Amino acid sequence: MELSLNSGYSIPCPGFGTFKTPDGEVCINAVREAVAAGYTHIDTAAVYGNERSVGEGVRQSGKARGELFITSKLWNTERGYDSTLRACEKSLADLGMDYLDLYLIHWPANEMQFGSKATAINLDTWKAFERLVDEGMVRSIGLSNFYVAHLEPVLASANIAPAVDQIEYHPGLLQEEAIALCREKGIVVEAWSPLGRGRLLEEPVLTGIASAHGKTTAQVLLRWCVQNDVLPLVKSVHADRIRQNLDFFDFTLSGEEMAAISSLPEARYGSHPDTATF
Ligand code: A2P
Repeated sequence: MELSLNSGYSIPCPGFGTFKTPDGEVCINAVREAVAAGYTHIDTAAVYGNERSVGEGVRQSGKARGELFITSKLWNTERGYDSTLRACEKSLADLGMDYLDLYLIHWPANEMQFGSKATAINLDTWKAFERLVDEGMVRSIGLSNFYVAHLEPVLASANIAPAVDQIEYHPGLLQEEAIALCREKGIVVEAWSPLGRGRLLEEPVLTGIASAHGKTTAQVLLRWCVQNDVLPLVKSVHADRIRQNLDFFDFTLSGEEMAAISSLPEARYGSHPDTATF
Protein backbone atom coordinates (compact mmCIF):
# COMPACT_ATOMS: atom_id res chain seq x y z
CA MET A 1 0.00 0.00 0.00
CA GLU A 2 1.24 3.52 -0.80
CA LEU A 3 0.10 6.99 0.26
CA SER A 4 0.56 10.16 -1.78
CA LEU A 5 2.77 12.91 -0.43
CA ASN A 6 2.21 16.61 -1.13
CA SER A 7 5.70 16.62 -2.69
CA GLY A 8 4.40 14.55 -5.60
CA TYR A 9 6.10 11.34 -4.46
CA SER A 10 4.41 8.37 -2.83
CA ILE A 11 5.34 6.63 0.41
CA PRO A 12 4.98 2.89 1.11
CA CYS A 13 2.97 1.75 4.14
CA PRO A 14 4.03 0.37 6.58
CA GLY A 15 7.62 1.51 7.08
CA PHE A 16 10.29 -0.60 8.72
CA GLY A 17 11.69 1.08 11.84
CA THR A 18 15.24 0.82 13.17
CA PHE A 19 15.14 2.76 16.47
CA LYS A 20 17.29 0.88 19.01
CA THR A 21 18.35 -1.63 16.38
CA PRO A 22 22.03 -2.14 17.18
CA ASP A 23 24.56 -1.11 14.55
CA GLY A 24 26.40 -3.97 12.84
CA GLU A 25 25.20 -7.47 11.99
CA VAL A 26 21.86 -7.17 13.84
CA CYS A 27 20.84 -4.11 11.86
CA ILE A 28 22.26 -5.35 8.55
CA ASN A 29 20.36 -8.63 8.92
CA ALA A 30 17.13 -6.95 10.05
CA VAL A 31 17.12 -4.61 7.06
CA ARG A 32 17.97 -7.42 4.64
CA GLU A 33 15.20 -9.58 6.15
CA ALA A 34 12.75 -6.69 5.97
CA VAL A 35 13.39 -6.03 2.30
CA ALA A 36 13.19 -9.76 1.55
CA ALA A 37 9.85 -9.87 3.41
CA GLY A 38 8.50 -7.04 1.24
CA TYR A 39 9.09 -3.75 3.09
CA THR A 40 10.16 -1.05 0.66
CA HIS A 41 10.25 1.79 3.21
CA ILE A 42 13.02 1.93 5.82
CA ASP A 43 13.21 4.56 8.55
CA THR A 44 16.44 5.47 10.33
CA ALA A 45 17.99 8.55 11.94
CA ALA A 46 21.45 9.94 12.51
CA VAL A 47 21.04 9.52 16.27
CA TYR A 48 20.23 5.81 15.95
CA GLY A 49 23.89 5.31 15.03
CA ASN A 50 23.01 2.63 12.49
CA GLU A 51 22.84 4.45 9.14
CA ARG A 52 25.91 2.59 7.85
CA SER A 53 24.31 -0.74 8.66
CA VAL A 54 21.00 0.32 7.14
CA GLY A 55 22.87 1.18 3.92
CA GLU A 56 24.72 -2.12 4.00
CA GLY A 57 21.49 -4.07 4.60
CA VAL A 58 19.91 -2.31 1.62
CA ARG A 59 22.89 -3.16 -0.60
CA GLN A 60 22.87 -6.78 0.54
CA SER A 61 19.13 -6.99 -0.16
CA GLY A 62 19.88 -6.72 -3.85
CA LYS A 63 17.04 -4.25 -4.42
CA ALA A 64 17.76 -1.24 -6.61
CA ARG A 65 17.88 2.04 -4.70
CA GLY A 66 14.99 3.38 -6.77
CA GLU A 67 12.69 0.59 -5.56
CA LEU A 68 13.15 1.62 -1.93
CA PHE A 69 12.01 4.59 0.15
CA ILE A 70 14.63 5.66 2.72
CA THR A 71 14.04 8.15 5.54
CA SER A 72 16.59 9.69 7.88
CA LYS A 73 16.39 12.46 10.46
CA LEU A 74 18.43 15.46 11.54
CA TRP A 75 19.65 15.15 15.12
CA ASN A 76 19.04 17.93 17.61
CA THR A 77 22.70 18.98 17.94
CA GLU A 78 22.77 19.87 14.22
CA ARG A 79 19.85 22.30 14.01
CA GLY A 80 20.43 25.58 12.16
CA TYR A 81 21.17 26.33 8.51
CA ASP A 82 24.81 25.34 7.88
CA SER A 83 24.98 22.45 10.30
CA THR A 84 21.82 20.96 8.79
CA LEU A 85 23.39 20.95 5.33
CA ARG A 86 26.50 19.21 6.70
CA ALA A 87 24.48 16.72 8.74
CA CYS A 88 22.51 15.63 5.71
CA GLU A 89 25.72 15.10 3.74
CA LYS A 90 27.02 12.94 6.57
CA SER A 91 23.85 10.85 6.72
CA LEU A 92 24.06 10.28 2.97
CA ALA A 93 27.74 9.34 3.22
CA ASP A 94 27.04 6.93 6.10
CA LEU A 95 24.13 5.35 4.23
CA GLY A 96 26.24 5.20 1.05
CA MET A 97 23.39 6.83 -0.88
CA ASP A 98 23.17 9.91 -3.05
CA TYR A 99 19.68 10.99 -2.02
CA LEU A 100 17.12 10.46 0.71
CA ASP A 101 13.45 9.94 -0.06
CA LEU A 102 12.52 11.76 3.13
CA TYR A 103 14.47 13.84 5.63
CA LEU A 104 12.85 14.87 8.92
CA ILE A 105 13.69 17.35 11.67
CA HIS A 106 13.85 14.78 14.47
CA TRP A 107 12.56 17.04 17.31
CA PRO A 108 11.53 20.70 17.36
CA ALA A 109 13.72 23.10 19.29
CA ASN A 110 11.46 23.87 22.28
CA GLU A 111 10.96 26.90 24.50
CA MET A 112 12.05 25.05 27.61
CA GLN A 113 15.55 24.74 26.17
CA PHE A 114 15.78 27.66 23.77
CA GLY A 115 13.31 30.25 25.12
CA SER A 116 12.09 32.76 22.57
CA LYS A 117 14.71 31.57 20.02
CA ALA A 118 13.09 28.16 19.56
CA THR A 119 10.88 29.07 16.62
CA ALA A 120 13.67 30.91 14.78
CA ILE A 121 15.90 27.84 15.11
CA ASN A 122 13.19 25.61 13.65
CA LEU A 123 12.59 28.03 10.77
CA ASP A 124 16.32 28.26 9.99
CA THR A 125 16.56 24.49 9.96
CA TRP A 126 13.54 24.31 7.65
CA LYS A 127 15.19 26.77 5.21
CA ALA A 128 18.14 24.40 4.98
CA PHE A 129 15.73 21.50 4.39
CA GLU A 130 14.24 23.42 1.46
CA ARG A 131 17.72 23.93 0.04
CA LEU A 132 18.40 20.18 0.33
CA VAL A 133 15.37 19.60 -1.88
CA ASP A 134 16.54 22.24 -4.39
CA GLU A 135 19.94 20.56 -4.53
CA GLY A 136 18.45 17.11 -5.11
CA MET A 137 19.87 15.56 -1.94
CA VAL A 138 16.40 14.93 -0.57
CA ARG A 139 13.11 14.30 -2.38
CA SER A 140 10.61 15.08 0.38
CA ILE A 141 11.03 16.90 3.68
CA GLY A 142 9.08 16.73 6.87
CA LEU A 143 8.99 16.92 10.63
CA SER A 144 8.99 14.59 13.58
CA ASN A 145 7.52 15.23 17.03
CA PHE A 146 6.05 18.55 15.90
CA TYR A 147 2.72 19.23 17.60
CA VAL A 148 0.39 22.09 16.68
CA ALA A 149 2.39 24.89 18.34
CA HIS A 150 5.60 23.73 16.61
CA LEU A 151 3.91 23.10 13.26
CA GLU A 152 2.12 26.41 12.87
CA PRO A 153 5.17 28.68 12.44
CA VAL A 154 6.71 26.30 9.90
CA LEU A 155 3.45 26.15 7.94
CA ALA A 156 3.18 29.93 7.99
CA SER A 157 6.61 30.55 6.50
CA ALA A 158 7.51 27.47 4.45
CA ASN A 159 8.19 27.68 0.73
CA ILE A 160 7.98 23.89 0.61
CA ALA A 161 5.27 22.47 2.85
CA PRO A 162 6.21 19.58 5.13
CA ALA A 163 5.15 16.28 3.57
CA VAL A 164 5.13 14.21 6.77
CA ASP A 165 4.89 14.54 10.54
CA GLN A 166 6.15 11.51 12.45
CA ILE A 167 4.79 11.41 16.01
CA GLU A 168 4.27 8.94 18.84
CA TYR A 169 0.89 7.37 18.11
CA HIS A 170 -0.90 4.30 19.44
CA PRO A 171 -4.01 3.53 21.47
CA GLY A 172 -3.86 5.81 24.50
CA LEU A 173 -2.19 8.62 22.54
CA LEU A 174 -4.56 9.64 19.76
CA GLN A 175 -2.91 12.97 18.89
CA GLU A 176 -6.22 14.45 17.74
CA GLU A 177 -5.07 18.08 17.44
CA ALA A 178 -1.84 17.43 15.56
CA ILE A 179 -3.60 14.99 13.26
CA ALA A 180 -6.45 17.40 12.50
CA LEU A 181 -3.96 20.09 11.48
CA CYS A 182 -1.94 17.62 9.37
CA ARG A 183 -5.10 16.45 7.57
CA GLU A 184 -6.09 20.04 6.83
CA LYS A 185 -2.64 20.74 5.34
CA GLY A 186 -2.26 17.47 3.44
CA ILE A 187 0.57 16.22 5.66
CA VAL A 188 0.89 12.44 6.03
CA VAL A 189 1.03 11.37 9.69
CA GLU A 190 3.46 8.60 10.58
CA ALA A 191 3.29 6.69 13.87
CA TRP A 192 6.35 5.87 15.92
CA SER A 193 5.97 3.17 18.54
CA PRO A 194 2.68 1.89 17.08
CA LEU A 195 3.01 -1.10 19.42
CA GLY A 196 3.49 1.18 22.43
CA ARG A 197 7.13 0.08 22.65
CA GLY A 198 5.76 -3.45 22.81
CA ARG A 199 3.90 -2.68 26.04
CA LEU A 200 0.42 -2.83 24.49
CA LEU A 201 0.88 -6.36 23.23
CA GLU A 202 -0.66 -8.03 26.30
CA GLU A 203 -3.51 -5.53 26.69
CA PRO A 204 -6.71 -7.63 27.19
CA VAL A 205 -9.02 -5.61 24.89
CA LEU A 206 -6.42 -5.99 22.13
CA THR A 207 -5.68 -9.67 22.72
CA GLY A 208 -9.44 -10.35 22.65
CA ILE A 209 -9.89 -8.60 19.31
CA ALA A 210 -6.78 -10.29 17.94
CA SER A 211 -8.02 -13.77 18.78
CA ALA A 212 -11.46 -13.00 17.30
CA HIS A 213 -9.72 -12.32 13.96
CA GLY A 214 -7.08 -15.04 14.24
CA LYS A 215 -4.38 -12.34 14.15
CA THR A 216 -1.71 -11.19 16.60
CA THR A 217 -2.00 -8.13 18.82
CA ALA A 218 0.76 -6.44 16.81
CA GLN A 219 -1.27 -6.93 13.63
CA VAL A 220 -4.37 -5.46 15.29
CA LEU A 221 -2.40 -2.39 16.41
CA LEU A 222 -1.00 -1.87 12.89
CA ARG A 223 -4.43 -2.36 11.35
CA TRP A 224 -5.97 0.17 13.76
CA CYS A 225 -3.28 2.63 12.70
CA VAL A 226 -3.90 2.32 8.95
CA GLN A 227 -7.69 2.35 9.38
CA ASN A 228 -7.11 5.73 11.05
CA ASP A 229 -5.05 6.82 8.00
CA VAL A 230 -1.83 6.90 9.96
CA LEU A 231 1.28 5.23 8.51
CA PRO A 232 2.96 2.95 11.08
CA LEU A 233 6.72 2.50 11.39
CA VAL A 234 7.19 -0.89 12.91
CA LYS A 235 10.46 -2.17 14.28
CA SER A 236 11.66 -5.67 14.96
CA VAL A 237 14.96 -7.51 14.76
CA HIS A 238 13.32 -10.95 14.54
CA ALA A 239 12.61 -12.43 11.12
CA ASP A 240 9.28 -13.99 12.14
CA ARG A 241 7.97 -10.73 13.61
CA ILE A 242 9.33 -8.72 10.68
CA ARG A 243 7.18 -10.86 8.36
CA GLN A 244 4.20 -10.92 10.72
CA ASN A 245 4.16 -7.13 10.91
CA LEU A 246 3.48 -6.86 7.17
CA ASP A 247 0.57 -9.26 7.22
CA PHE A 248 -2.33 -7.10 8.38
CA PHE A 249 -4.11 -6.26 5.13
CA ASP A 250 -6.36 -9.33 5.07
CA PHE A 251 -8.82 -8.30 7.78
CA THR A 252 -10.84 -5.27 8.83
CA LEU A 253 -11.60 -3.99 12.31
CA SER A 254 -15.27 -3.12 12.79
CA GLY A 255 -16.38 0.34 13.90
CA GLU A 256 -17.03 -1.07 17.36
CA GLU A 257 -13.58 -2.63 17.58
CA MET A 258 -11.95 0.58 16.37
CA ALA A 259 -13.84 2.55 19.03
CA ALA A 260 -12.94 0.08 21.78
CA ILE A 261 -9.25 0.33 20.86
CA SER A 262 -9.41 4.11 20.69
CA SER A 263 -10.86 4.25 24.22
CA LEU A 264 -7.95 2.52 25.93
CA PRO A 265 -6.47 4.56 28.80
CA GLU A 266 -4.04 7.38 28.12
CA ALA A 267 -0.44 6.31 27.73
CA ARG A 268 2.78 7.91 26.51
CA TYR A 269 5.96 5.87 26.29
CA GLY A 270 8.38 8.43 24.84
CA SER A 271 9.23 12.07 25.50
CA HIS A 272 6.92 15.05 25.00
CA PRO A 273 8.42 17.56 22.56
CA ASP A 274 7.76 20.51 24.90
CA THR A 275 9.71 18.99 27.78
CA ALA A 276 12.40 17.03 25.96
CA THR A 277 15.81 18.19 27.12
CA PHE A 278 17.99 16.24 24.69
P1 A2P B 1 11.97 -6.95 18.73
O1 A2P B 1 12.78 -6.01 17.88
O2 A2P B 1 12.82 -7.73 19.70
O3 A2P B 1 11.04 -7.82 17.92
P2 A2P B 1 7.28 -0.03 19.02
O4 A2P B 1 7.41 -0.10 17.53
O5 A2P B 1 5.91 0.27 19.49
O6 A2P B 1 8.30 0.90 19.64
O7 A2P B 1 7.57 -1.49 19.59
C1 A2P B 1 8.78 -2.10 19.30
C2 A2P B 1 8.97 -3.27 20.24
O8 A2P B 1 8.04 -4.30 19.92
C3 A2P B 1 10.33 -3.85 20.09
O9 A2P B 1 10.76 -4.17 21.41
C4 A2P B 1 10.12 -5.13 19.27
O10 A2P B 1 11.04 -6.10 19.71
C5 A2P B 1 8.71 -5.54 19.64
N1 A2P B 1 7.96 -6.17 18.54
C6 A2P B 1 7.92 -5.79 17.25
N2 A2P B 1 7.07 -6.56 16.54
C7 A2P B 1 6.56 -7.46 17.40
C8 A2P B 1 5.64 -8.52 17.28
N3 A2P B 1 5.05 -8.79 16.11
N4 A2P B 1 5.35 -9.25 18.38
C9 A2P B 1 5.93 -8.97 19.58
N5 A2P B 1 6.81 -7.97 19.76
C10 A2P B 1 7.13 -7.21 18.69
